[in-house]
This record gives sequence, C-alpha cells and structure tokens, in this order.
Amino acid sequence: MSESSVSYVSKNKLFPNEREKLFDIYKDLIETEYNLNRTLVSFQANKKEPFYRWFKYKEGFSRKLIDYFIEKYHPSKGNILDPFAGSGATLFSAREKGWKSTGVELLPIGIYNIQARLTAEKISINEFKKEVITFWEVFNSTSEVGTIIQHISITRGAFPDENENNLNRYLTTCKKVKNDATRFLLEFAAFSILEEISFTRKDGQYLRWDSRANRSYGSTEFNKGEIYDFVKIVKEKIEEIIDDLSPTQNYELFATVKNNAALYDPNILKGSSLEVLPSLEENTFDFVMTSPPYCNRYDYTRTYALELIFLNNNDEDVKKLRQTMLTCTVENKEKLDYLKNLYAVLNRSSDFDFINSLYFSHPAMSEINDVLSKLNKLGKLNNSNIPRMVKNYFYEMLFIIYELYRLLKYSGIVVMVNDNVRYGGEEIPVDLILSDFAKIIGFKINKIWTLPVGKGNSSQQMGLHGRSELRKCVYIWEK
Ligand SMILES: C[S@@+](CC[C@H](N)C(=O)[O-])C[C@H]1O[C@@H](n2cnc3c(N)ncnc32)[C@H](O)[C@@H]1O
Repeated sequence: MSESSVSYVSKNKLFPNEREKLFDIYKDLIETEYNLNRTLVSFQANKKEPFYRWFKYKEGFSRKLIDYFIEKYHPSKGNILDPFAGSGATLFSAREKGWKSTGVELLPIGIYNIQARLTAEKISINEFKKEVITFWEVFNSTSEVGTIIQHISITRGAFPDENENNLNRYLTTCKKVKNDATRFLLEFAAFSILEEISFTRKDGQYLRWDSRANRSYGSTEFNKGEIYDFVKIVKEKIEEIIDDLSPTQNYELFATVKNNAALYDPNILKGSSLEVLPSLEENTFDFVMTSPPYCNRYDYTRTYALELIFLNNNDEDVKKLRQTMLTCTVENKEKLDYLKNLYAVLNRSSDFDFINSLYFSHPAMSEINDVLSKLNKLGKLNNSNIPRMVKNYFYEMLFIIYELYRLLKYSGIVVMVNDNVRYGGEEIPVDLILSDFAKIIGFKINKIWTLPVGKGNSSQQMGLHGRSELRKCVYIWEK
C-alpha cells in the first residue's frame, strides 16, 4: 500500500493521528486482491444474468462475487445470513449450493424483488405464456383506467401523461387476473421498468429529473435520452422473464432450483437489522456475507421513490423508511434513544451500555468526529449534517457488528463489502474503523482485501485536495 493512498497521514498536522495508528496496526492485513475487479464486485456482472436483469437493483452484489467468497472461505454448506439482503443475491447464490439462508431487508423494493423470483421459480411457464396472451387481449379491449399510482411530492409528474395513463390501465387490467402468481409477475414487470418510462434517472443521492418534466433543480439542463413507451417496454420485460424461465434456455440459475426440490427457500425477515438481529438466537450462523449501506449519502428512499409509490408507500411511509434505514444520508436522525429502549425491552441494557461506551471511547472514532465537527465550524463541509451522519453511521454499524458476533457460531466468518469515504478532504477509513470495532468485540481480522483500483472522488474534491484513491474493500472477520 503506497503512502500516498492514506490521506489521513495528514499533511496538515492539525489533526493527528489515531487513524494513522490504526493503519499501522492493520497495514499488513490490507492486501490487493486482483481477482476482485470492479465487474466482479458490482452489479455489472449481473446485467445479463437471468433474474438479475429483470429489475436492476444497482446496489446488488454480483452472483459471482458471492460464489467466489463462499468457495474461498466456507466451501462446505451451512447457514448463511445477510443482514442487508437487498435483492437477495447472497441468499440465492448460497441456496444454489445447498445452504440455508436468512436475509434481513428493510426496503420493500428488495423484498418485492425476492418475492418475484420465488414466484417465478414456481410458476408453470406454459400457463403463464397462455395467460399473458389473454391478458393483452383484455388490455386491448378495455379503456378502463383506475387511478392506481398514488404520487407523493417527490414523484409527482415523473411520467409523461400517456405512459402514466397506460401504466394505470395496465395495473387495472392486472387486478382482473385470477391467478395470483401470474398477476404478481405481470405487476412486477411494470415495477421493473418505471425508470425507463419516466422523466427520472436514478442518480445515487437522489432522483435526477429530465428538463422535459419542467421540474429540474438547479441550473444544469439534463436530458436522459429516450423515454420509452410503456406498452412497448413492458412487453419486452415480460418476454425477458418468459425467456429466462423457458426450459429451452436451460439457464443454470433456474435449472438448479427446478432440479432440486430439497433446496431451502430463503428465510426473509422484513424490517431493520438494528431491530431484527437482536431478536435472533445466538450461535446460529456459519457465514455472513453482506454489504451494508455505505457512509456516502446515498438515499435509497429518494433513488427508488418511483418503486416505493408503486408498492403503495405514501409520503409518511417513505419518510419513515428513510429514518429507519441504517444512517447513510444527511437527513438521518440519531437512533441512540431508540436503541437504548430496544435493548432495555430485550432485557439487554448491559449490552447497550457496553456497545455505547465502546463507541465513545474509541480514539480513532473520536478523532474523526472531532475533525468533522471542526471542519464544519470552519464551513469546509458542503452539508452541515455530514458530521452527524458519519457519527451515527459508525454508531449503528457497531451494533450490527456486535450482533453478528453473537449470531455467528464459533469460527464463523463475516465477509463485508464497503467503501472508504472522504469529507472535507479528510479520509474516513471505514475499513479500519469497522475492523477495529470487530476486533474489540472479539473477531479475528483475517484480511482487508482491496480492489485493485480504488474509487476516485468528486472532481470538486480532487481540485481542492488533490487526488488520492479511497480503498474499496472486502473485510474478512472470523469469530
Ligand atoms: C448495499 S445494499 C445491499 C445489496 C445486496 N447485497 C444485494 O445484493 O442486493 C444495502 C441494503 O441495505 C438495506 N438497508 C438499509 N438499512 C437497513 C436496515 N436498517 N435494515 C435492513 N436493511 C437495511 C438497503 O435497503 C439496501 O438494500
């Protein structure tokens, strides 16, 4: 690891040096894994994969990444947990290998996607094809339009009128389909193409609006290119689903499931991991493979606002989801009291006290919190809530790590994918802080794998602070 990549070895010695000390402790465990290229780690590797290409959950793992780590660290099957399950890539990949799997996911989007896959696996493809033909006959012969899509303030005007009208007509027709599985998949097809038929583009922290919607913020004009016709594109989506499910394609993914009735369906737990994990029994799992939200201001509830309203979430629901998520946006409020109460109700106040005091006595964590609050006072952060976000991100992750330790069996493994971040020019070594938390709790830190080329940073930051790479990592911890 070259020195230049560690920006908190501060050129400006105003803020020494706890992070530097941590780096010294862990530097021999930080190693570049050349097998982990960006394509393997990110969703890109899934783009052409059956199921994963239906609804593009861009935050998802690639299937290959999960296979890679299971093969490397736990080739014999067991019981796996993903506390931030998203669309269930960990669960499905492990299941193909005969594992039992449990996933926790808060957002209805991931849950719906998982349900779609489980529904698709069980459907009779020939029946489905026939019902799709009937569906379009009914659709074409009716002009009945219910108002199905209920907008919230951040989605109003997202669809061109004709698309919204056809979407509502389509969903009205779906309601008439008697077979639950067929109806579900037809609705799911529409869910999967909302971005393509809208004026919006998912853009990390928020939903970006095409200027044609007359709703764009700021001065920059944005044109997302073609806005697809709803009927055309939903038909294509249904064909894609049929294609992936057809035996002629003989895709490995569905073939394994169809040929092996003994595989366990994943156990999906809806809700926040902060609340669900403490309620699970200790010493249950052999392996955790997960990727929590990153400490990067990414707001899932804005980015996936169209999908959330599709799934009947109103303004209040969306705001509640935003606050319940693991803190990763500047809007998140502190959860200290909530966690304190939660642990008190579970009769585990001493665990709360332990975790809480560990956090507030951690030198590098305190240093980061101090540095960010000083930078804030100097007006050097582009949002004044960044210190609160960073503080609470680590606070909540400490609870997660504590629970993972409790839930794992002896010699169980955690594989966690996460990125380092930088604010106001200060690197936040997420890998070192979380690994150090894990070590204090009792884990052995086996490795901090880094991707060959780290993540760059915004051009604005590069201008201000010069470029240095931020590590994008996979941590391996063992109980
Ligand atoms: C980086 S994504 C993980 C994606 C997943 N690896 C996949 O392959 O789809 C992080 C996930 O954590 C979920 N999440 C955020 N806060 C949560 C919480 N408190 N409890 C459970 N899940 C949460 C998000 O909705 C998101 O799906």
